[in-house]
Amino acid sequence: MQSEIQTLLLFAIQLCLKSKEIISKNNKQIETKENVTDLVTLTDKAVEDYIITEIKKKYPHHLFIGEESLRQEFTDQPTWIIDPIDGTTNFVHSFPYFCVSIGLCINKEPIVGVVFNPLQNQLFYAGKNLGCYLSNDQFKDIGDGKKLFSTGDLPTSLSHTLVLTEYGASKQQDILQLKLDNIKRVIDTARGIRSVGSAAMSMALIAQGVADLYYEYGTHCWDICAGVVLVRESGGIVEGVNSEFGLMKRNLVCMRGGNGDYKVLKEFNSLMVHIDYPS
Ligand code: IPD
Repeated sequence: MQSEIQTLLLFAIQLCLKSKEIISKNNKQIETKENVTDLVTLTDKAVEDYIITEIKKKYPHHLFIGEESLRQEFTDQPTWIIDPIDGTTNFVHSFPYFCVSIGLCINKEPIVGVVFNPLQNQLFYAGKNLGCYLSNDQFKDIGDGKKLFSTGDLPTSLSHTLVLTEYGASKQQDILQLKLDNIKRVIDTARGIRSVGSAAMSMALIAQGVADLYYEYGTHCWDICAGVVLVRESGGIVEGVNSEFGLMKRNLVCMRGGNGDYKVLKEFNSLMVHIDYPS
């Protein structure tokens, strides 16, 4: 199984790196989905199409859940979960936090994760029990780059914690109000709060250990699947807010790893008011 994961991971990395050729054409022709924040460009579609076509050639029996096209049923079968460009608004504005995100689940467990930011030339990759690495587009083989450990002394309270969150795309007023109320509680308590505009990039930053905690309400499985593997393999943990983690649950909180008892996670959970998103 280990060498199989390594083969699948290598393939996912090659697809992410190849996608850079499509992204570099910089086709920012926009289609709005639900509202002015929820965008898709022709580049998103072209990247997803390329990735799915290539995987189907090599693994014809595998299944897919892609943000922009194919959404097959989530079963125990090997399932690729793809966000061709996570942070589409950032891509449109050339704000340098967007990425290609490819995850693979077997038995519903994320086991391969690749997050590639083409503008910053950062390739984050991880495979179950293989560790988490940060490399660049000169990547040749698994193990290239710097091995990431998000571990260290954990903050013992939110007042020493740098928190990442995202606002999502929903303009539904009751949801927005609950999100803002939660954010205000974090601002009142934590050392700092930041948003980079991409769920997958946020998780990569946790794996890198440069922020302590990331949470979001409203996530989809394609935003987070690859990031789950990065965070776990860097030594961190992924949960649902006040609940067990589930890829389809529409919320998550993750923390970098380290010495300590995750007291800060309990403090964080106690602040949050639940926001009910349909699964
Ligand atoms: C979005 C980004 C954003 C997050 C949303 C995602 P997209 O992905 O990750 O930061 O708040 O929940 O949907 O639409 O740019 O692929």
